[in-house]
Amino acid sequence: MTQVKLLPASKGLSGTLSVPGDKSISHRSIIFSGLAEGTSHIKNFLDGEDCLRTIQAFRELGVDIERNGTNVIVHGKGIKALQSPVNPINFGNSGTTARLLSGVLSALPFFSTAFGDPSLSKRPMDRVVGPLSEMGAEIIGRDNAKYLPLAFNGKKLKGTTIEMNVKSAQVKSALLLAGMLSEGDTVVYEKGITRNHTEMLMSQYGITLEKQGSKLTIPGNQQPQASDLKVPGDISSAAFFLVAAAVAPNSSITIENVGLNPTRDGIITALDRMGADIDVEQGEKIGHEPVGRVHVKSSELKGCTFEGELIPNLIDEIPILALAATQAEGTTHIKDAKELKVKETDRIEAVVTNLRSLGADIEATEDGMIINGKTELTSGIVHSYGDHRIGMMGAVASIIAEGPVTIEDKDCINISYPGFFEHLDKVCK
Ligand code: S3P
Repeated sequence: MTQVKLLPASKGLSGTLSVPGDKSISHRSIIFSGLAEGTSHIKNFLDGEDCLRTIQAFRELGVDIERNGTNVIVHGKGIKALQSPVNPINFGNSGTTARLLSGVLSALPFFSTAFGDPSLSKRPMDRVVGPLSEMGAEIIGRDNAKYLPLAFNGKKLKGTTIEMNVKSAQVKSALLLAGMLSEGDTVVYEKGITRNHTEMLMSQYGITLEKQGSKLTIPGNQQPQASDLKVPGDISSAAFFLVAAAVAPNSSITIENVGLNPTRDGIITALDRMGADIDVEQGEKIGHEPVGRVHVKSSELKGCTFEGELIPNLIDEIPILALAATQAEGTTHIKDAKELKVKETDRIEAVVTNLRSLGADIEATEDGMIINGKTELTSGIVHSYGDHRIGMMGAVASIIAEGPVTIEDKDCINISYPGFFEHLDKVCK
């Protein structure tokens, strides 16, 4: 297993970074372009392992896709030209590929099968299989289709009204994609607000979708039209450097071209509430997505409670927020975050075990964690458990630790942030 030993950055951090393209938008850009009629040019695509799985999946469906680093050209021929994949599709570690493509594959008129790596094979698929079955989907799989591998006996589905029972953008997106390909209207009632990139991109690719509060209505039999797209920087990747600059002394960092979609900017709200010295400059929108710069300086943080509607808005940032909380005066309580247990690893356990081993005062709760700060972090080992965001949390911990911190399985960081260590090197003074 690949590991790296990182030394503290005692002089602090400074500089300006553009983080790689947004993971959620990169996946969706391939899905819509692959279903579309015409050629789509995508710039600043995230060339991390997860999004490459989505490209590979569309290639298996017969779509011609050229990629040169972060520039991608998708030669879409429309939904009717897609073909039954000869081999099982490998979703790798990617939950977004697995959930969103389940919506697509269920509704295409041919047979397909898919599998994932050991981590993805433990993550629940019934959250999409259940509602898709209500639309008439025929999906079989391991343990009553609760888990991958799955087989899709794809066919025209029937527009249906579905009340979601989980706050998940992946599930919402799977249902909207299936609805777009079905006969008649599909109505999805969201349980809470989650990232809305699918809705934004539907509008960009010429798909009709109506939103009234928590009710989303999508007419069926719609064919997306090709579109050119530039993917904004991923705020979930930026979060590691925003927290790093806030907690390390003598630091000042600017992140440019970062997505500031209001369904994704919870980490900025959270750091602001903790008293961080953080400034946001809104720039021009890219497509429908707000983008701008965020500037953070070393800050005296204070503990806070984070719960409710804010949680889906920063769900992927909770590991790094927990690290920030170890450097905040007082108690931080993270609630309503049970979903963390079904991410790439059980992130409640992974965060608590790793930060405690570095000397933090942190305990797991049923639906989150309680952190008492401020504590000095010691040298030690951070086990990534194959989870990119746990690995990056460990790397940020090393900046402020008293001695070296070793990150085990550092390569898993390539899932969402290829070039992370180069960026870390660039900003450490
Ligand atoms: C994502 C939604 C979230 C998030 C994941 C990406 C998406 O998952 O954690 O990293 O692109 O729709 P859930 O839908 O399971 O909350």
